[in-house]
Amino acid sequence: MNLLTQFKSWNALKEHAQQMRVLGACGLTDQNNFNIKIQNIELDYSNQNITNKTIDLLVDLAIECKVPEKIQDLLNGECVNISQNIPALHTALRLPQSSTLEKEGVNIIPEIQAVLEKMKQIANQIRSLAWHGRTGKPIVDIVNIGIGGSDFGPRFCLDALSEYAASNLNYHFISDADPRAFERAVKKLNPETTLFIVSSKSFTTYETLYNFEKARQWIGDSAGLEHHFIAVTANEHAAKKLGFENILPIWDWVGGRYSFCSAINLIACIALGYDVFEQILAGAHNMDEHFAKTPLEQNIPVLLALLGVWNINFLHIPTLLLWVYTQQLALFVPYVQQLDMESNGKSFDINGNSVNYATGPIVWGSIGNQAQHSYYQLICQGTHKVAGDFFSVNEFKHDAINALCEAKIQVLNKGVPCVDSTAGYIPGGMPINHIRLDACIPFILGQLVALYEHKIYVQSIIWNINAFDQPGVDSAKQIQHSCVDVLNSLAVSAN
Ligand code: F6P
Repeated sequence: MNLLTQFKSWNALKEHAQQMRVLGACGLTDQNNFNIKIQNIELDYSNQNITNKTIDLLVDLAIECKVPEKIQDLLNGECVNISQNIPALHTALRLPQSSTLEKEGVNIIPEIQAVLEKMKQIANQIRSLAWHGRTGKPIVDIVNIGIGGSDFGPRFCLDALSEYAASNLNYHFISDADPRAFERAVKKLNPETTLFIVSSKSFTTYETLYNFEKARQWIGDSAGLEHHFIAVTANEHAAKKLGFENILPIWDWVGGRYSFCSAINLIACIALGYDVFEQILAGAHNMDEHFAKTPLEQNIPVLLALLGVWNINFLHIPTLLLWVYTQQLALFVPYVQQLDMESNGKSFDINGNSVNYATGPIVWGSIGNQAQHSYYQLICQGTHKVAGDFFSVNEFKHDAINALCEAKIQVLNKGVPCVDSTAGYIPGGMPINHIRLDACIPFILGQLVALYEHKIYVQSIIWNINAFDQPGVDSAKQIQHSCVDVLNSLAVSAN
């Protein structure tokens, strides 16, 4: 039996939701104060179907679930990844150099700083064209080979901040077992001037090793790996066994989908320059500090989490739609999709008991304004309930794109009354958070990533599930490997 549904605060919320259903829209009091701004980021939650009492009851739930204590556990390196009995210290990656954080009696900050220094050296060497291929020509094309958290983060980071990228270099990503993915990526590249970053925390991911093998043959087997390959991994042994000499470590206490601030983001660090990468780390740390020190009712990650719990568990809305109103955040959607759904897509709690309540939402979305010309009809008049997180940047406040965003929020939350025929009627009532960023710049991108890392963690606390393992995926990988083994054996027998 799950304790959560026996909590006093949980049952108070159930009763409150029932009252709200009876009251309907008229039960929504004046919501102008549902707005919080911290440095560079504003959360406007005035278009949620809540009252001040809702927030009070949600904060009670957070307290009864020991959210404040478990926030400190995360930041202090307690073993919050319970099934693997390890911490989840993605926040340590962006702690200032002068910090101290002990893990098993050892201060881990020096080794984190050493990796950052190595990233800086590599970035400076490549950006100054001083990293040469085996024939002595400078490297000008960098290819990241990775998948999941070893791809989504770097790809999103580089796309969002592309105007900061060095223009004398080119950047590419390969992330699939599609037989043509490699050839398509390297079609116009020169093996003498191309560097591959093989990013894999485990160094056992089939798709990544499949493409590494192709890259090794394309560069030329005899060339050795020192000129054209860098490995980023927590499995140094496997990388060395494959012949890698340039190896940047990540740690088992950094989850793959939580590795945005680690060496997994090396290609972005090279492209943008270490100074920009440092601004990203500073922004993420700024959000960590807000998360650690701010009272629950003013704490943006906590509020986002609680509003999600309200919509999922009490208004029974199982999906979360992300609409971004700046093309710079287009790849934030798939990034958060993995971060959220791989963390909270679980139906059993940390004790292995099946849960009798909903957990992680189905996260989807796209560039918001383009949805108007794609699936907006379902959103405004369909039969499925959807909650939304919409993102805009204040630098566009005088541009049509922000007016279009505001208009969508108005229509989807307040509706369009039925006038001459039901055809034009839009019921409204869609709960929407509007996250306004001052601009899409490195510091704020770091804040945004940390904001969603922490929101997802707080929801896992409420649902009493482990946000940092992925047992389903891991077991599926076993099945996949056996299938691939069969395929490979068939391929061998066919030749
Ligand atoms: O999808 C499972 C998963 O392990 C993700 O958690 C991870 O980001 C991805 O595969 C890639 O794993 P690795 O970095 O070990 O290659």
